[in-house]
Amino acid sequence: MAGFSQEWLALREPADQAARNPGVLAAVGAYFAEKPSLSVLDLGSGTGSNLRAAHAALPDRQHWTLIDHDAALLAAARQRLMGWADEAREQGEELVLAKGGKTITVDTRRVDLDKDLEWVLGWQPDLVTAAALFDLASKRWLERFVAALASQHLPLYSVLTCDGREEWLPAHPADAGIAAAFADHQRGDKGFGPATGPDACELMAEAFRKSGFAVSTGDSSWVLDERHPELRAALAEGTAGAVGETGRIEPAALGEWLAARRTAQSARIGHQDLWARPV
Ligand SMILES: C[S@@+](CC[C@H](N)C(=O)[O-])C[C@H]1O[C@@H](n2cnc3c(N)ncnc32)[C@H](O)[C@@H]1O
Repeated sequence: MAGFSQEWLALREPADQAARNPGVLAAVGAYFAEKPSLSVLDLGSGTGSNLRAAHAALPDRQHWTLIDHDAALLAAARQRLMGWADEAREQGEELVLAKGGKTITVDTRRVDLDKDLEWVLGWQPDLVTAAALFDLASKRWLERFVAALASQHLPLYSVLTCDGREEWLPAHPADAGIAAAFADHQRGDKGFGPATGPDACELMAEAFRKSGFAVSTGDSSWVLDERHPELRAALAEGTAGAVGETGRIEPAALGEWLAARRTAQSARIGHQDLWARPV
């Protein structure tokens, strides 16, 4: 089962916020513009970065339920959100936050989304959302997910799903082999059965269209240049670690690639955002 550290999520949060597709977010905001309040279910919330990035586009009163199977990340989410808000208090289990003119209440729930997906969707939120989650899921789970949303007429706002495009500059002779081995690793089991990895975006868009949803997508690739040395290095190390596990690249060649990538000029890592609403 995949584990994500608080340090990694904190390191990627500014790049995620910068990369999030503004057109897709604006479309989600426009859809709910007439609603005075909104309930949101954030799947695989980690430490709550999706809430911090999306709240400003949504109605003035929001209730977020953050779902994750990792109790430590949910505890960190509560702390981060309390520090991030302009004003914050705890009311029983719930956080009550004020931020930029919005009032946001927050619950955290520890749930394994492979086991208890339908139960969670049964809470009937106005909006289901997730950031950097769906490439971890299997084809079977994604189809089950889309079917559950369709049966309850629930819209989905998904951001930052990896789409497999990677471009490092300057180019390195091992890039293609490393990218292929990394894609193989991404298709391993991340807790939902064999992961779709780079195929998740197209598969979801197709499944939503077949279920009669209106679908729009937008690019949310990371562009990591000299402003992101730590994230670039961590990404290169994570990629090399994953590729090492596949055994497909000689350790010496992998070490040489990693040394070059730690000092690369830039990296462009492909992601897609998606907005699917029942029509
Ligand atoms: C790449 S992280 C993204 C976290 C957060 N959405 C963000 O953008 O910072 C994926 C998240 O999904 C959670 N996750 C993975 N598998 C899960 C499962 N089966 N049930 C619930 N959460 C899961 C992880 O714990 C992690 O927080």
